[in-house]
Amino acid sequence: MDTKLLTEKDIKVAADIIKNGGLVAFPTETVYGLGADALNAQAVAKVYEAKGRPSDNPMIVHIGRASDIGQLTPRLSPDIVALIENFWPGPLTLVVKRKSCVPDRTTGGLDTVGVRMPDSKIALDLITWSGCPIAAPSANLSGKPSPTKAEHVIEDLQGKVDAIIKGPDCRVGIESTVLDVTGDTPTILRPGVITAENIEAAIGKKVAVDPALYVNRPRDVSDEEFKPKSPGMKYKHYAPKADMTIIEGSRDKVKTEIERLRVLNERIGNKVGVILFEERAFIEAAHDFFAKLRELDKQEVDLILAGAMSDTDGVGFAVMNRMLKSAGYNIVRV
Ligand code: TXA
Ligand code: MG
Repeated sequence: MDTKLLTEKDIKVAADIIKNGGLVAFPTETVYGLGADALNAQAVAKVYEAKGRPSDNPMIVHIGRASDIGQLTPRLSPDIVALIENFWPGPLTLVVKRKSCVPDRTTGGLDTVGVRMPDSKIALDLITWSGCPIAAPSANLSGKPSPTKAEHVIEDLQGKVDAIIKGPDCRVGIESTVLDVTGDTPTILRPGVITAENIEAAIGKKVAVDPALYVNRPRDVSDEEFKPKSPGMKYKHYAPKADMTIIEGSRDKVKTEIERLRVLNERIGNKVGVILFEERAFIEAAHDFFAKLRELDKQEVDLILAGAMSDTDGVGFAVMNRMLKSAGYNIVRV
């Protein structure tokens, strides 16, 4: 299906595939998702298979209307209501208590479920017309960078799924913020473009951040607490084929060091790719990062040198989370 030619009928055909237990890749505002009927355990099992994904990794369930969250969870708190009002449709996933109709296959056996209403007309139409909530991880092969363009999905999943909706490039470029709202203090399990500050402003209270998200573990965090609470965070992620190193420090020093390492490595015949965003261009960095990794893979570089972004900004923190994982936490300070 071509973007320009994409019609209502095409989306309806895709919705029928979902309704009948098949797999459809579709665009959202964050990244492309690989969708199946969230309440059909067999359909969900096929998603794990197509992606080559470990089956204890829970999926985000996408809904077409905010009120449909009631199908999935037995209770709403005032915080949850405020978050929905402020951020849905949009890149915020809420981890809530699950109802028993949500299969173990979908939640990876957890008694909670991640729910999100995406801000994309194609995604919302697909969900509405399929008549069921849609479980969808990012539509990449497990371990590869998340897909932000239809061509990325085609590279990874053509022939492995029933349909791929060729929509527009994704506006945000990194996955949604995952926020656990099952306890008294909402906790960010995966950072995204909706930041702790945005959430605090909406609910009027402090938000916690899963300590496992800090590379430099704060001294007062125990080993036990340092384990990621979001199962997906423990896997190898977003890895480009090339070796990747992040350089962190003042802007001038980072530029000098990248140049020094580039020359050094090119001299021994290695192909080097550089990722260096403008210093405070956090939104652009989020938008471009995964696409950049895939582009460098295509160019078959041996080494990627990336300049760190400031993680004191919430969106910068989210970009750095992806960058660190891509580099296997390989970071040099200058
Ligand atoms: O933007 C997004 O969130 C995209 C688009 C397609 O919506 N989806 C996405 O899904 O990134 P996925 O499966 O690649 O990542 C889901 C993340 C994983 O880290 C997973 O562990 C976490 O959300 N997650 C899902 N359900 C959870 C739950 N019940 N408790 C804790 N973490 C959960
Ligand atoms: Mg993913």
